[in-house]
Amino acid sequence: MVSDFVSLKRSGQNYKALSPFTNEKTPSFYVVPSKGIFKDFSSGKGGDGITFVMEHEGMSYVEALKYLAKKYGVEIKEDERTPEDLAAQGERDSLYIVMTFAKDYYKELLHNHDEGRSIGLSYFRERGFNDRILEKFELGYSLNEWHHLQQAALTRGFSENVLEKSGLIIKKDDKIYDRFRGRVIFPVHNLSGKVVAFGARILTKEKDQPKYINSPETEIYHKSNVLYGMYQAKNEIRKHDFCYLVEGYTDVISLHLSGIENVVASSGTALTEEQIRLMRRFTENVTVLFDGDAAGIKAALRGIDLVLKGGLNVRVVLLPDGEDPDSYSKKMGSTEFQEYLKTNSKDFISFKIDLLSAGASNNPIKRAEAIREIVASIALIPDPIKRSVYIKETGDLLKIQESVLLTELNKILIAEKRKRDQERMREEVAEPLLDVIEEVAQATKTDPQTMVQMQEREVIRLLLNYSDSPVEDDVDLVSYFINEFEELDFFNPLYASIFKMFRDAKLNGELVDSKYLIDNGSEEVKRLVAELTVKKYQASKYWREKYHIIFFDENEKINENAHQNVLRRKYRYIQNLLEENKAKIKEAESSSNSIKVDELILVQHKLKQVDLELATELGVISGKY
Ligand code: UTP
Ligand code: MN
Repeated sequence: MVSDFVSLKRSGQNYKALSPFTNEKTPSFYVVPSKGIFKDFSSGKGGDGITFVMEHEGMSYVEALKYLAKKYGVEIKEDERTPEDLAAQGERDSLYIVMTFAKDYYKELLHNHDEGRSIGLSYFRERGFNDRILEKFELGYSLNEWHHLQQAALTRGFSENVLEKSGLIIKKDDKIYDRFRGRVIFPVHNLSGKVVAFGARILTKEKDQPKYINSPETEIYHKSNVLYGMYQAKNEIRKHDFCYLVEGYTDVISLHLSGIENVVASSGTALTEEQIRLMRRFTENVTVLFDGDAAGIKAALRGIDLVLKGGLNVRVVLLPDGEDPDSYSKKMGSTEFQEYLKTNSKDFISFKIDLLSAGASNNPIKRAEAIREIVASIALIPDPIKRSVYIKETGDLLKIQESVLLTELNKILIAEKRKRDQERMREEVAEPLLDVIEEVAQATKTDPQTMVQMQEREVIRLLLNYSDSPVEDDVDLVSYFINEFEELDFFNPLYASIFKMFRDAKLNGELVDSKYLIDNGSEEVKRLVAELTVKKYQASKYWREKYHIIFFDENEKINENAHQNVLRRKYRYIQNLLEENKAKIKEAESSSNSIKVDELILVQHKLKQVDLELATELGVISGKY
């Protein structure tokens, strides 16, 4: 397995080689066949064949297993997959296939088609791209035509559907056309070297056209998971144990041309967490390489913080103002450029300090701000030991007491912890409670009118269930309610009609009960009766909370409950009147009818008195009941 990647020499029972993981000069990489293990004394890595493939190819465990199984013809039985899984896998496979087809096709056009050669290839030549580079990055060219790739792919038997899903063609309204036209093509490879996307650079100076057109997100291409150049760089990154991070396609290629191959690009967007995780699989050390202009510095600063947060060690190289890796490497030549990168790479602390001393050394306020910014970057580092090393270094360089910096650092760390805790609280505790909170909010918002009607409903419920229960001495519930509610109108017409049936029957000496109502009532009445009698014994907690109605406990005496109910209903009734009267006062005030206002205030006053009496008797002080 190992000899697929490393040329091994026999050494007694074992094999020996130069470490594939470092740049060592004398071999310290051993393979021990009798034990099925390897040990690399140079990098410290060691393990079985699967570990080796994982380390060497930057594969995950599962990827390594699949790779080896395929290579040695071992069948891997996966858990039975659903038809959807299989369909998704099928779709991904066909996307890989069509992307490979397109890549080969674009390459072919670049090298063998008149337009490709005269426009695409000559452009690459002008930029100094040699054959080795063209092949290594599988660069290509797309003809300046609307249906060229589409036709070729359809002829090859690819479906329009797959072509559209791959992003190679665009379907808009009833038009279908190639996405990439008249541009040079930069394929984007995944870790195992399969093409998952394309970037296509314009060659003309058309103003309204973007410089690059990129593949859209597809089933096989998630922009935030991919670093341009990683496939070509991974072994070198591991060997050097660090990686250059640049901005774009051509930067990566320029560095390769200068003999620097441990380089990847974020492709013009802010680095994502996934991209940093991907880098971590190969090294913990990143050197950010950006243009020397203001935009470059800004991008570098943003890059630094993201990489620090990802737990990587960061160095920075700024190029002179107006230069990018491409122009500068050309100007300097390979050797000098490599030398420049080596001597100008700075630890991010020194980089930030230099920026500070350039801009703010004489201004105490700006200086303090800049120091705080440095500490804020340090606070992003997950490892506390590294943090303290950097704090010490900053203190030394800036001649500031370490304790001052530590205080600042702790402030930031504590604030962040608090923020994290709050977020966790919200996720774990508050959000599940939202429903409940919403309900309570609803309850407090419930207007007096609804409250009155709910209380009316409770009157009907009591009547339906306990109409002939004695309340006081010989007075039954119906008589008691008729008496008490003589002057209280029902707001709800349905409840009003039922109450009237009870009252009329009572006054005629007839018996009204739920059965009578079900036999004689309207559909609406029947439904309500059913609802209120079936749930006879259930005091709903929901209702109690929502409408503040205390339900009847069957063990208590009916008379007490009836009495309470009467009080409550009157109380609700008054509350509602108060509310209505308040609105009337406002209305009178706004129409400047002062006599009316005085009158209404008097009414309000009287209502308030009754309200107070009822509230006192009910044991509530304010309207919140
Ligand atoms: P640059 O404009 O620096 O492009 O954008 P470049 O690759 O260095 O090209 P040259 O050297 O000027 O020819 C940096 C990166 O930003 C992304 C690309 O990934 C590009 O490589 N980009 C830029 C886009 O995706 N779309 C654009 O329109 C421009
Ligand atoms: Mn550039």
